[in-house]
Amino acid sequence: MIGGDGIGPEVTREAVKVVEAAGVDIETTDFDLGGARYLRDGEILSDATLDELRTFDAILLGAVGTPDVPPGVIERGLLLKMRFELDLYVNQRPFVGTAPGLDRPHDFVVIRENTEGPYVGEGGVLRKGTPYEVATQGSVNTRMGVERCVRYAFELAQARERRHVTLVHKTNVLTFAGNLWERTFHEVAAEYPETETAYNHVDAACIYFVQDPHRYDVVVTDNLFGDILTDLGGAVSGGIGLASSANLNPSRSGPSMFEPVHGSAPDIAGQNKANPAAAILSAALMLDFLGETAAADRIRAACDDPGTGSTTEIGDTIAARVRD
Ligand code: IPM
Ligand code: MN
Repeated sequence: MIGGDGIGPEVTREAVKVVEAAGVDIETTDFDLGGARYLRDGEILSDATLDELRTFDAILLGAVGTPDVPPGVIERGLLLKMRFELDLYVNQRPFVGTAPGLDRPHDFVVIRENTEGPYVGEGGVLRKGTPYEVATQGSVNTRMGVERCVRYAFELAQARERRHVTLVHKTNVLTFAGNLWERTFHEVAAEYPETETAYNHVDAACIYFVQDPHRYDVVVTDNLFGDILTDLGGAVSGGIGLASSANLNPSRSGPSMFEPVHGSAPDIAGQNKANPAAAILSAALMLDFLGETAAADRIRAACDDPGTGSTTEIGDTIAARVRD
């Protein structure tokens, strides 16, 4: 458990409560990491701590980041370090809900590549602070990295009713990376002839997410497009307060990590106000990955319309439903 900063510890506490209520026998260990810890003694995520984390089956994370630490320090040093070092190459984000103005629910999942793209941090700065400052920020795309992510998307589609995979990119402008993605997508698709495919440019996908989300089943995309699109996915699926995610190492050579899409929301931290649903649904994704699918399904059903109330009230309501 990495509760983290802001509302993180409050919402992960409810998630554990619900998992236990579902009758799944879990053992948890708390790791005090995040912005607050960093300000106290300078640790963000040491290699020793990372090695300890490697020994667990799963990591449940609340949220990290505090306004007292400059942007990027905790994000890169903790969250992205875990994604990269634990090789969590798939970021799976399901979206079920009815978009504003539409009359029936959609059900799609975004598979976001999680270890490459602009997130690698390629680039640099020259003549900083002068009028001649130059900043570059590259995007790293490897055949191996793209292919394993695309393959995961097709495998996932096999287990879903529609068996439909959409590639989202910007092949008309990002021609080098886009072409690698496009070729890889078509080559992998050829191995899944029963699966339907589609392609959307990312700007058009933004329109469809809002106006026609029913066209999607499995969406596969690069790290940065996936980051942006999944906030939009949350917004059209009942709000970011419900958006869950799984950072997966499908080869299972180490633990996978589960976290709500939302941030640490420092403005409401410690007030028992945050909706714990996203953390609870992320714990359900964790149970899926650990093979406890029946409990995960019960938790998802119990999260349907849990009403309003405080963090602990909503957690208690959902826990009571799963117990019954
Ligand atoms: C997310 C977050 C992270 C990301 C940030 C906190 C680094 O926005 O998980 O979507 O950009 O991936
Ligand atoms: Mn994001």
